Amino acid sequence: MINHSSEISSRDFGKNFLWGVAISAAQNEGAHAVDGRGPSIWDSYAKRKGKIRDDTKPFEACDFYHRYKDDLLLVKALGFTVFRFSISWSRVLPEGMGKVNKEGIAFYNSLIDECLKLGLTPFITLYHWDLPQALQKEGGWSSHLLLKWFGRFVTVCAEEFGDRVKNWIIINEPMGFTSLGYMLGKHAPGKMSLNEFLPAIHNAAMAQAEGGRIVRHLVKGSYIGTSFSCSEVMPYSSSAKDIEVANRMDILLNRLFIEPSLGMGYPDDHFVLMEKLNLFNKAWKYKERMKFDFDFIGIQNYFPITVKYNPLIPIVQASEVKAATRKVPHTDMGWEINADSFYRMLKRFDAYEAVKELIVTEGGAFFKDKMVNGMVNDELRIDYFQQYLAALLKAKHEGVAVKGYFAWTLMDNFEWAEGFHARFGLIHVDFKTQLRTVKQSGHWFRDFLSSKKERHL
Ligand code: NOJ
Repeated sequence: MINHSSEISSRDFGKNFLWGVAISAAQNEGAHAVDGRGPSIWDSYAKRKGKIRDDTKPFEACDFYHRYKDDLLLVKALGFTVFRFSISWSRVLPEGMGKVNKEGIAFYNSLIDECLKLGLTPFITLYHWDLPQALQKEGGWSSHLLLKWFGRFVTVCAEEFGDRVKNWIIINEPMGFTSLGYMLGKHAPGKMSLNEFLPAIHNAAMAQAEGGRIVRHLVKGSYIGTSFSCSEVMPYSSSAKDIEVANRMDILLNRLFIEPSLGMGYPDDHFVLMEKLNLFNKAWKYKERMKFDFDFIGIQNYFPITVKYNPLIPIVQASEVKAATRKVPHTDMGWEINADSFYRMLKRFDAYEAVKELIVTEGGAFFKDKMVNGMVNDELRIDYFQQYLAALLKAKHEGVAVKGYFAWTLMDNFEWAEGFHARFGLIHVDFKTQLRTVKQSGHWFRDFLSSKKERHL
């Protein structure tokens, strides 16, 4: 067990460690039809009844588009020095391809300039799940044209912003948006088909490498990564069946995207899905193209999962045994809290020979925060960060090449299918008035980052 009882300070991580906070365009910007922005798949998906909790829409979100200057002041006040945000593809290319929207470019230029003025280092995520709806109409991530579309988007961004932004994350959690969006139907665009899922996987695996090459070519002095979700997979029992399905889930959740990016091709462990995927990979034709020499790998670990054999579930034949059922600590998302597991995942990703450096590009938790007398005393979130940061420090001390930690997320925002219900922010947002209130976890971070030992409560 990781001991987090003695408080650690940010100084323990060394002076070059990157401390950041992350947001994404679709979750924060709002202004969905302002200044020429085209609709994204999330705008369209949210219009379908019953898809988003309470049928809320991301149209206004946190109105970051209009409030970014004040929000950046908060980032600064909390003591972070890195600001991670994503570019809304349909804001810069409203039709996905074709004409560039000058006002969209102007917005990101001002955002970048403002970051630099405040001494915040911008990290751009190119794709954080909001494909232009115009491209979804043509097949979206499943289309054979995807690489061409993505290449154009990356080129525009690199040319427009690359003079000032050197840090790039090509794709955020490819497993997340391909599986939830094209197989499980739980995220935009709401597809449920293996025939869409498999090409989406392959296109995302290709796009992360192609995107890296484009940025490397166009941006002088670039530092390029891409971000993967990961979840340790535990078998529910020691039965051979449970162990076998846990291995299958491990391939999907932890190996499917990183291994091709490192030049290892798709993992191929006699799992029927992988065999199908390798149809795209005949004679290892694409192995080289899926590979890119990333400067860093972003890892995002929210929970481990426990699975057991279930013959009724297609393909994986596994079902999850939820944290609540197993009576282990979990967040209000139902996600198991397990900092030891986070530590093990850091070690595991670091162990790939071709991984140069890791950055934890997201980490955080949803708890049902309560505002009392104008304050949000989110002790549980503070405790969560303390546990996870202690685990990170332990891994770092043992030689894991981890270079930074970005908290998810600056402020409560649009949590995809959970709408505005699931609050992950260090800052509380009243979505009626857009009033921001720093939670105690935000104050805690400020003290932590300024290396004050005492808690601000
Ligand atoms: C990962 C995603 O990148 C982010 O958009 C999301 O809000 C968090 N996980 C929490 O679910």
